[in-house]
Amino acid sequence: MQIDLIKQQCEQVVRDFLTQLGAIHVDRLERKWITISMLVIGLFVGIITIDAFFHGVNPPSKVETIDSASLHLNKEFAEDNLGVQVDEKGKIIIRMVAGRYSFFPKHIAVPAETQLTFRWVSMDVLHGVHIPMTNMSTMIVPGYVAEITTTFPKPGDYPVLCNEYCGLGHNHMWSNISVIAKEDWTVPAKLSAKGATNNE
Ligand code: CUA
Repeated sequence: MQIDLIKQQCEQVVRDFLTQLGAIHVDRLERKWITISMLVIGLFVGIITIDAFFHGVNPPSKVETIDSASLHLNKEFAEDNLGVQVDEKGKIIIRMVAGRYSFFPKHIAVPAETQLTFRWVSMDVLHGVHIPMTNMSTMIVPGYVAEITTTFPKPGDYPVLCNEYCGLGHNHMWSNISVIAKEDWTVPAKLSAKGATNNE
């Protein structure tokens, strides 16, 4: 009974609104521009939708915090632990630290056509990371871990660039990533306790 009444009232409100809308005089020129703006909005929404569903461009999936000031004391992001590692389940994890003005390690090698999990952290201010010709692009916010899982389809040498203004050296903040054919890539040797590194 009550629901029917609410439904009736809602229908009345919608009907009133439509009648009022129909009564408004919209100039032809104005109508043209309204249509153009709607089309532009539609175009942008379409591009975002295609990028998200077909190109896999998505924001990092979970919120994970970290103390940026003490990364060197943090076990996961201690210097010896950075770079490419393969866990017990065979999952490839790449840990990278961004700091004014570079990404550490300076160079890494990863296999093509393989799922890679990147974990990025900042040691100082806001940075961004962008690897051209791939879908890798994220902000690296101090205090948070940016985790991104991706696959690089084509072997080659790619630059790793900072795309958030972070200071006077921002333009020079970059490092390199070599994407190697899957069959030529070898699991990096286990790091020794002394901190020998497989990434120069
Ligand atoms: Cu780091 Cu710009």
